[in-house]
Amino acid sequence: MATNPETERAVRIWDVPTRAFHWLLAVLILAAYLTQEFGQLDRHMTIGYVVLTLVLFRILWGIIGSEPSRFVSFMPTPGKVGRYLAALSRGRPPKMAGHNPLGALLIFAMLVLVALQAGTGLFANDDIFTEGPLAKLVSSETSADLTDIHKTSFWILLWCIVAHVVANVGYEVVFRQPVIQAMVTGLKPLPAVIAAPRLRPLWLAVPPLALAGFTVWYVVTQV
Ligand code: HEM
Repeated sequence: MATNPETERAVRIWDVPTRAFHWLLAVLILAAYLTQEFGQLDRHMTIGYVVLTLVLFRILWGIIGSEPSRFVSFMPTPGKVGRYLAALSRGRPPKMAGHNPLGALLIFAMLVLVALQAGTGLFANDDIFTEGPLAKLVSSETSADLTDIHKTSFWILLWCIVAHVVANVGYEVVFRQPVIQAMVTGLKPLPAVIAAPRLRPLWLAVPPLALAGFTVWYVVTQV
């Protein structure tokens, strides 16, 4: 008997590295904000180094990782975004084995902003006792400018996060697409017409993670 192409089955779309990256990043962004608010700058800087490691890792995983996590697979071209917006305006966003083009726009923006946050933090200073490990490489004016960018870009990132969370909750509530569960369990119900993506083995995440960690350690302690 032929299978109905609309019949749904649970498909693994998010691998462990992508899910671990996502939830660690979410917790660390909150922790970075709180430690800064409570004046715990040593902890704030340590969190920044871990965030930088995660972002470097995600860039590498976006090149060699599982199909749905690779940047080329969710590059939001104008054509893809336009078609997706048209479907969304009809109230029927298509189900996808990965990020939708609109979500992808926000995801790329957040990745750039998080990299900018952590990167400028290396050169920032608080005008009192604390400065980033690379502040000594630039003039005090440049360090002050980068500190301003570090502070301003956080608020842009915050608004992107708010939009991201509202959009994901909207998909759950309005379109009944369990996207948040998918980011937790890795599994998403998809119609049989959508092929299961190819996922990479877990061990393949170890070299890019080690490379990212080593790079950050080197920049922070040896430069
Ligand atoms: C500081 C907070 C957060 C940041 C910086 C953030 C950032 C990101 C990033 C960068 C991705 C892409 C993941 C990847 O491909 O590696 C993503 C995806 C996702 N995030 Fe978040 N996130 C945050 C909080 C949350 C929260 C609280 C939720 C739950 C309500 C959430 C739900 C999701 C979901 C469901 C996806 C996958 C979206 C899709 O299916 O295309 N995120 N997030």
